[in-house]
Amino acid sequence: MTVRLFTWEERPDLAERGPDSADVWPEYNLHGDAFDDWWEPLLDAAQFQFALYDEETDTVLAEGHTGPFAWNGDDAALPDGIDAALEQAVTARRDNRPVDTLCAFAAEVAPAARERGLAADLLRGMSALAARHGLKRLIAPVRPSWKERYPLAPIERYVAWRREDGQLLDPWMRVHERLGARVTTPLPESMLISGTVAEWESWTSMVFPESGEYVFPEGLATLHVDRGNDRATYWEPNIWLVHPDLP
Ligand SMILES: CC(C)(COP(=O)(O)OP(=O)(O)OC[C@H]1O[C@@H](n2cnc3c(N)ncnc32)[C@H](O)[C@@H]1OP(=O)(O)O)[C@@H](O)C(=O)NCCC(=O)NCCS
Repeated sequence: MTVRLFTWEERPDLAERGPDSADVWPEYNLHGDAFDDWWEPLLDAAQFQFALYDEETDTVLAEGHTGPFAWNGDDAALPDGIDAALEQAVTARRDNRPVDTLCAFAAEVAPAARERGLAADLLRGMSALAARHGLKRLIAPVRPSWKERYPLAPIERYVAWRREDGQLLDPWMRVHERLGARVTTPLPESMLISGTVAEWESWTSMVFPESGEYVFPEGLATLHVDRGNDRATYWEPNIWLVHPDLP
């Protein structure tokens, strides 16, 4: 297997051949309020989107989505969620503002290519892209993969859990930490996904007969259902991970 990184600018044809969103994300995750506004404009910056491409099989195995903005290195000044970070990346480009930090927005490995170590290759690819553009560092508002197993645990506690060998319990956070990233600010309200009760019922294949808090499949936190106002609201929790400054 010979895996190479190509940006969408270098190989626009590969942009159409990445893993299907439906195979990578739970349905509810495709309906973020801010994502609806900012995701497509983020992808327009083709030099910051890339594919990991296997030349032997002519297949896109994984995709990385990133965008730069300015950050002064102070943890307290990190955006207060992935929604805010996404807006910063898109508006920085639109307004031609100076940037110094690459932010990771999504890492997607095709299901058939998982558990082969491509997660670390994606992160190395993001750092290489940051270096190529003269940026200082890579940061990531990470979606911890195993949080779905602990939807009731506060994100502040979950991100501190470690195995007996000292490594982080969460597999995706572990890959970041092994590459030198620092676990920083927990984001209990990182990405807002709101909809009507019927929309949330269709996204989760559940029914929500009464108002209240619900655990649902693959949810990292609970869903708040308000039948009186026909609204269901979910805040996806994330955690900021800051990678070491680039040489
Ligand atoms: C999260 C994701 C990028 C990981 O990619 P991957 O190629 O499967 O991961 P890797 O093979 O590189 O493994 C990374 C770590 O996760 C662990 N892991 C991967 N899949 C696992 C599974 N199903 N169960 C348990 N551990 C698993 C690996 O053991 C490894 O940890 P270790 O090296 O400490 O053993 C991939 O599963 C994915 O695309 N998920 C859907 C989208 C997503 O959640 N992206 C991340 C948020 S942006």
